[in-house]
Amino acid sequence: MHVFIAGANGKIGRHLLQEMADSDHEARAMIRDPDQGPELQQLGATETVLGDLEQDCSEAMRGCGAVIFTAGSGPHTGPEKTVDVDQDGAIRLVDTARAMGIKRFILVSSMGAGEPEKGPEKLRHYLQAKHNADEHLKASGLNYTIVRPGQLTNDNGTGKVTMTAGAEEFGKIPRQDVARVLLAVLDSDNTANRVFGVVSGDTPVAEALTKL
Ligand SMILES: NC(=O)c1ccc[n+]([C@@H]2O[C@H](COP(=O)([O-])OP(=O)(O)OC[C@H]3O[C@@H](n4cnc5c(N)ncnc54)[C@H](OP(=O)(O)O)[C@@H]3O)[C@@H](O)[C@H]2O)c1
Repeated sequence: MHVFIAGANGKIGRHLLQEMADSDHEARAMIRDPDQGPELQQLGATETVLGDLEQDCSEAMRGCGAVIFTAGSGPHTGPEKTVDVDQDGAIRLVDTARAMGIKRFILVSSMGAGEPEKGPEKLRHYLQAKHNADEHLKASGLNYTIVRPGQLTNDNGTGKVTMTAGAEEFGKIPRQDVARVLLAVLDSDNTANRVFGVVSGDTPVAEALTKL
């Protein structure tokens, strides 16, 4: 299946491309800068397409069977970009996927996005934006999975995690392990229409998914 990846040039996105290189899926990496193309293809992208989440991405998505959204405005932009990218960019992509008949949508959200008002004050705006995107996806009618990682690190992944489907558990997780989770979710039927948190733990990713 061709999988459209928003945020492919990001830190999780790059790990995901590497994980996907050995999978049965073809990664279509959306990038904003054509110079990023060759490196992402070397990492594992089957193809790259130009696009921007603040604009219409329908042509870039054509022919894909699933979407993975792992984009984000990052910590170095103002609060308005969090709304433009993490919230409205995700919402626009959900609506475009639905309009184009792309039924599977995997969204990287954040630990704490379930109850933004309970998060630390400095994170509340970000968590609310994530929450709003999550709620839009849940109501979209698409086959969704919302993955809420804890604090991301650049440590090597261990392949072992703790997943929580209900109450949110706080902790850390290497980006490489989040990428492994995203790929495993793609191939796992029991993640349809599910929301779960994930942090580092003791359970192999595939096993953790079967226990959700
Ligand atoms: N930091 C944490 O502890 C934490 C915790 C939980 C969840 N998360 C979430 O995890 C996700 C990914 O994290 P990460 O560390 O991999 O992020 P990252 O390295 O900052 O990558 C973000 C990606 O989003 C892309 N992007 C930004 N604006 C865009 C736009 N308008 N159109 C298209 N692409 C755009 C960037 O593109 P360029 O490469 O072109 O700039 C980049 O590739 C985010 O959704 C973040 O909110 C983070």
